[in-house]
Amino acid sequence: MNRIRIAVLVSGGGTNLQALIDAQAAGLLHSGELRLVISNRPDAYALTRAERAGLEALTIRLADCGGQEGFETALTEALRARGIELIVLAGFMNILSARFIGQYPKRIINIHPSLIPSFCGKGFYGLKVHEAALRYGVKVTGATVHYVNEIPDGGQIILQEPVRVLPGDTPERLQRRVMEQAEWRILPEAAELVSAEILKDKERIK
Ligand code: GAR
Repeated sequence: MNRIRIAVLVSGGGTNLQALIDAQAAGLLHSGELRLVISNRPDAYALTRAERAGLEALTIRLADCGGQEGFETALTEALRARGIELIVLAGFMNILSARFIGQYPKRIINIHPSLIPSFCGKGFYGLKVHEAALRYGVKVTGATVHYVNEIPDGGQIILQEPVRVLPGDTPERLQRRVMEQAEWRILPEAAELVSAEILKDKERIK
C-alpha cells in the first residue's frame, strides 16, 4: 500500500521522535512512513534514536548555511530530493519563515507542550512553557498538535490532551508528565490522522 513519506524535524532529546518510531513499529502509524530525520543541532540525541531505528538522519546547521534563508533552502532541497509529503516538527527549536511554510500548506504539523492558546507563541518552547504554566498557577495544562502556519503556534488544532498540574510540581516534573500522558500519544495519533487524510486526497485526485 501507498504510504505518505514523513520527515521529522528535531533539535533535542527526541522523545517525541521515539514515540513516532514506536508507533510505526506497533502498526499505529501505518498511513505514513518515517523516511527522514533532520536536526538543526549536531549534538541532538534524537539523531542517535533515528540511526538506531535505521532511519536516514541529517544535520543542517544554520551557521553552515549563512543564516535562516540558506538553512531553509538546504532544508527544502533535502525534503524535495526524498519526495517528503508531511513534515512533523517534534521539538524543533527554530521558527520557520512564512515563505518556507507557504510551500507546505497543511503539510506541516507541530507538537506544543501546552493547551493552545495558553502559553504559546514566540518565546514559549521546551521548559519555558511549563515554567510559565506553574507561574500562572493553572491546574490543568496539556499538549496540542496543530498545523503550522505563518503564526507561531497559531495554526488549526488537530488534537489536544489535558494533563493535571499537581502540588509540588517543578517545571521538569510537569514536562515529563505532559510528555508521558499527552505528547507521546497524540503526536503519533495526529501523524496517522493527517497521513490518512493526505492519502485520501491523493486518491481523489487520481
Ligand atoms: C517537547 O516537550 C515538545 O513539545 C517541545 O519540546 C520538547 C521536545 O522534547 N516543543 C516545543 O516547545 C515547541 N514549541 P523531545 O526532543 O524529547 O521530543
